[in-house]
Amino acid sequence: MKKKIKLAVIVCAAAVFVFAMASSRQSAQTRGPQVETIGQRFKNIKVLTDVLADQLGKLMNIFSASLNVNCSFCHYTDDFSKDGKEEKEMARKMIAMTFSINKEHFGGETEISCNTCHNGQMHPQSRPSLEPTQHSAGHGPRPGQPTAKPEASAVIAKFVAAVGGDKKVESAVVTAERLEPDGKTVEPETINFKSGKYSAKVVYGKQWVTDLWDGAKAAKFGPDGSHRLHSDEAEQIRREAQLLFPAAIGSAYSKFEYRFADKIDGRQVYVLIGTTADGFRERLSFDAESGLLVRRVASTPTVLGSFVYQVDYRDYKNFDGVKVPTVVKYAMPNIYWTRKVSSVKLNVPVADDVFAVPGS
Ligand code: HEC
Ligand code: HEC
Repeated sequence: MKKKIKLAVIVCAAAVFVFAMASSRQSAQTRGPQVETIGQRFKNIKVLTDVLADQLGKLMNIFSASLNVNCSFCHYTDDFSKDGKEEKEMARKMIAMTFSINKEHFGGETEISCNTCHNGQMHPQSRPSLEPTQHSAGHGPRPGQPTAKPEASAVIAKFVAAVGGDKKVESAVVTAERLEPDGKTVEPETINFKSGKYSAKVVYGKQWVTDLWDGAKAAKFGPDGSHRLHSDEAEQIRREAQLLFPAAIGSAYSKFEYRFADKIDGRQVYVLIGTTADGFRERLSFDAESGLLVRRVASTPTVLGSFVYQVDYRDYKNFDGVKVPTVVKYAMPNIYWTRKVSSVKLNVPVADDVFAVPGS
């Protein structure tokens, strides 16, 4: 059991590792108009030299997810800059090859990425499968589209009503468990909420990490201080704060557009694009029948295709007239966890100091 917790800490640490590691060097630098590259921030870079430094962590997770391997497949994890593993050298050749295919055959668009060939396998298969398949003449069947296109505003209004729209949540304390991808390891999580401010603390044995939205900016920190946050990660923490009580969805996005009907887990959903005041676009899927938000997808571009954040909202339960999803699944390339909410206490006192970064 102890071993498992340790493992989870390591896995989690690996996911945040890249940000944490770089934060010390960042502080020495002035924030100028010129943007730091991977070659400037990291020690032993031969191919990704000119790519924006903030993409490194995402690219590493895209590699791992595409090949279905851990960081240690290519790295000595005591020092990620060390060379010596054949796989790391091969990966460098593969990155160069992928860039060149895109450049020469796709006009520089990132049409091909590691996953196009690897598709979750170390060794891509060049031989076609011998399993009989259903051939289709064209594209697969599109889920049926409603005869009358729903208005985005009606979809949002139905959702807000379904989650108890007019009930006011000024403050709240939510207790939850964070379930790791092994399906067994569980860490306690406490979320404090007050007037739009949000602080979510997850405890990993002796370690802990807090995601904070203080009403104006996001932060992530643990016992050893602040972690570096990229702008897209900060935006995601902000969205967590805005959608903890989802009736506030109208304050998160300034514009909604209806796109099409689709199916998720066999149920019809209406897909909307929500655009924030700052221009971030996210795809929101609402259950056509219940009206509830079932999926939110955001993405950030990298030189090897989009890094996707997908959040699935399940098992909405009623807490004093407010409906909250009690099973929330987070998925990114190589990073997964599930939040299981066990209690929601509404309009209870919450101290202000939980919304401050310690030592700032
Ligand atoms: C398929 C192989 C592969 C996997 C898997 C992989 N990496 Fe890498 N990683 C590389 C390569 C190749 C480089 C060097 C890129 C270059 O030279 O341009 C690199 C560089 C790095 C660096 C920069 C080190 C430095 O200072 O020079 C870090 C940090 C890093 N990886 C972290 C990770 C983490 C964390 C994971 C797991 C989430 C991971 N990597 C998974 C291939 C991989
Ligand atoms: C055009 C197809 C294609 C693309 C794109 C591609 N690969 Fe590969 N990759 C292959 C093939 C084929 C092999 C050889 C498999 C074998 O040896 O069985 C391979 C092998 C590898 C290996 C060695 C695996 C081992 O078992 O030692 C690594 C590491 C690797 N690829 C990483 C990557 C990374 C990282 C990317 C994205 C930057 C990438 N590949 C993109 C086709 C591709």
